[in-house]
Amino acid sequence: MTKPVILTGIRANQDLTIGNYFGAILPIIDMAKQRSEEFQINMFIPDLHSFTTPIDHSLLNKQILDNAKLFAAAGLPLDNPNIYMYRQSYIPAHSELTVILDSFTGFGEMSRMTQFKEKSKELNDNVSVGLFNYPVLMASDILLYNAKYVPVGDDQTQHLEITRDIAQRMNKKFGDIFIVPESVPKQHEFFGNDQGLRIKDLIDPTKKMSKSDDSGRGVIFLNDDPAVAAKKIMGATTDNLAKIDFNREKQPGISNLIEILSLIRGISLDKVVNEYKGQTGYGNFKAVVASEVEVFLTDFQNRLSEVNENAIIDKLHQSERDMIPVANETLLRAQQAVGLRPKG
Ligand code: TYM
Repeated sequence: MTKPVILTGIRANQDLTIGNYFGAILPIIDMAKQRSEEFQINMFIPDLHSFTTPIDHSLLNKQILDNAKLFAAAGLPLDNPNIYMYRQSYIPAHSELTVILDSFTGFGEMSRMTQFKEKSKELNDNVSVGLFNYPVLMASDILLYNAKYVPVGDDQTQHLEITRDIAQRMNKKFGDIFIVPESVPKQHEFFGNDQGLRIKDLIDPTKKMSKSDDSGRGVIFLNDDPAVAAKKIMGATTDNLAKIDFNREKQPGISNLIEILSLIRGISLDKVVNEYKGQTGYGNFKAVVASEVEVFLTDFQNRLSEVNENAIIDKLHQSERDMIPVANETLLRAQQAVGLRPKG
């Protein structure tokens, strides 16, 4: 019996942030460790997604490998045979299925995607068809491996929903080709609090901390100089209420710092609030968060520098060899359904 699949991907465009780390990398690695007996874990690098917005292509190849190293430094057990780590572009079925799914996806439904609309605004006239098509490629990533659970931050839930819509539509028209991933509420139930967690920008704590942010002042990158990162925390926007409390609406900045500290320490928000709630200024609390961020980054960067690159490359190649036939099997079902291949 094949195991149900948990699948997720993290793009390798610019440098990753502590938002990606605590919001996506750590929860999936923890889950991979805990669930790899019952589930197959696919942790992949969506390298074709990496340049849906403009990037410096001379850096991409190195960044892809760096991303893979990062999973290892964050604790992904490479020797676990139920855990696969591969690059999207090394498995051609991703691109091929996308072209098929494109013709069963509405222009209107794609135009409504929030991420597309937001990124289009940022890019002014520089919007590519690749950006528009991003969710269809993401649907292929998920459907090719019959994934049941897809842990992503809540900025990606709309893409998960469109994946389900496309799969259901195709299944209705052609018979069961695809396994439909679980609904977003079921995903939340399964993953608990890890899902939907969002670390906010330090300067504008009403928006998420994003690696595509240009100024970088509100963003802590995993490869930031730890001392510089500490300064960014000290410069974080707060408020003039002068009380330490977790309230995303009224105190978004201080709530974000509480969130960051609770994640670094691996303790609840309440515990952090209880420890600091008596304080009437923010300077001391900021200094605590800054110093713990600095220690966290120093440790993480040390672990990263110790990762064995050859072991990473071997793992990628092995997983790609293993996953090509799985992806091709699903692709063939789709090709047969639409009439591109004879039915077996
Ligand atoms: P990407 O690289 O933009 O984001 C990777 C993951 O990080 C989460 N994330 C955050 N979580 C918490 N706080 C933040 N500030 C924060 N910023 C980002 C994202 O929600 C995401 O889970 N489209 C995907 C990549 C992808 C994918 C897939 C994922 C491509 N194909 C198939 C799952 C299945 C993405 O947003 O990557």
